[in-house]
Amino acid sequence: MEHYIIKGGKPLEGEVEISGAKNAALGLLAAAIMTDEEVTIENLPDVSDINQLIEAIENIGATVDRVDRHTVKINGKTIDSYVVEYEQMKKIRASYYLLGALLGRFKNAEVALPGGCAIGSRPIDQHTKGFRALGADVDDENKNGRGMLIAKADKLIGNHIFLDMASVGATINLMLAASLAEGKTTIENVAKEPHVVDVANLLNSMGANIRGAGTDKIRIYGVEKLHGTTYSVIPDQIEAGTFMCAAAATGGSILVKNVIPIHLECITSKLIEMGCIVTEYDDAVRVKAGDNIRSTQLKTLPYPGFPTDMQPQMTAVLSVATGYSIVVESIFENRFKYVGELNRMGAKIQVEGSTAFINGVNGLKGARVSAPDLRAGAALVIAGLMAEGFTTVDDIVYIQRGYENFEDKLRGLGADIEKVSDDREEQKFKLRVG
Ligand code: UD1
Repeated sequence: MEHYIIKGGKPLEGEVEISGAKNAALGLLAAAIMTDEEVTIENLPDVSDINQLIEAIENIGATVDRVDRHTVKINGKTIDSYVVEYEQMKKIRASYYLLGALLGRFKNAEVALPGGCAIGSRPIDQHTKGFRALGADVDDENKNGRGMLIAKADKLIGNHIFLDMASVGATINLMLAASLAEGKTTIENVAKEPHVVDVANLLNSMGANIRGAGTDKIRIYGVEKLHGTTYSVIPDQIEAGTFMCAAAATGGSILVKNVIPIHLECITSKLIEMGCIVTEYDDAVRVKAGDNIRSTQLKTLPYPGFPTDMQPQMTAVLSVATGYSIVVESIFENRFKYVGELNRMGAKIQVEGSTAFINGVNGLKGARVSAPDLRAGAALVIAGLMAEGFTTVDDIVYIQRGYENFEDKLRGLGADIEKVSDDREEQKFKLRVG
């Protein structure tokens, strides 16, 4: 099995180019099948979640032309199925966006219930509640032992929908379906994440009429038809935040390029509190570590609050801060699974319920650890980069779901990290880096 081997202790220095946002791209790809004209999406990250969704889109008959590694042309004219099978869904959660997209365009969708990172129970009741409000019949059906969600309607009619919580997935899914509903849909208490705005922008450039994305209330004036367009994915806020944390953790200085600094403000302000110097440019931020890392407190919240997807990486940095830190996870109930791994590297973190109490230590020691999910995997890599000696990170398939060329980008900043698949390669690496 492929794993990372890391020799820690080197400050990371230099520049890194951030890829397109995975979570935005997943919504954009689903939106792209809502017309029978060609939609070109640029700046797609080359990560396994995206490639899986593209495969699912091809499987229902859409014509997909991969122009290059980061550009795809999708033509939904050839779609001949509304059924997305379990094989596609088990690997990525966001293929549930095909539910909103197919229901919107064909008033008919049959999608296996979602997989993805096991970071909590992750229900989709808000999605189904919204589809029903638009007039769809939504049912669960057991097909060959797998749960399928079936949504059908003669027509979708705009309605007023109030979400119980600001769910990113439900907000995007309902925007997709309501774009082609009759009349006006208002969705309140919606998610305001940058990727919600990105999906609304793409839909609008396809002829939809969506107002208010990025605020608490989105108004969608349904249109009859969407058309083709060309659109570029926004930069990945979480990938950028991960490299910002890597600079802080290793005592380095990294210019993180191709970002939208305003999307990073909650991360920036935490790092400043922790003693880093952060300089913002038009489309880049530089993070320079301070002399030591100061402890802090943080709570994950919907955007513009501190992102749950940055919680593990920041906890890894705080494991070596001076004094006590507290991290509260308020979005997902099972997102501290990596803490045991960090503790095996010498961290002193105690989790009680949704709170991690971190007693900062002087340094971490290399160990063999395993990535329990995507962002926790990135956190363990950061821990390995600051630890003394060698760290092995197993189960890196999780990391590859959301980070393009992670190890190459880190090596470009001076890190000693290699993706290896056997002991011989690991020994070679160890001999090389000493
Ligand atoms: C998306 C992101 C994920 C991120 C999360 C929160 C994608 C593909 N994934 O996930 O990386 O961690 O936002 O920023 O964009 N909930 C319900 N019922 C629902 C929907 C959600 O109870 O119908 C709850 C969830 O269990 C969770 C909270 O609402 O506690 C937020 O979830 P949501 O924003 O929907 O997350 P995802 O869209 O799954």
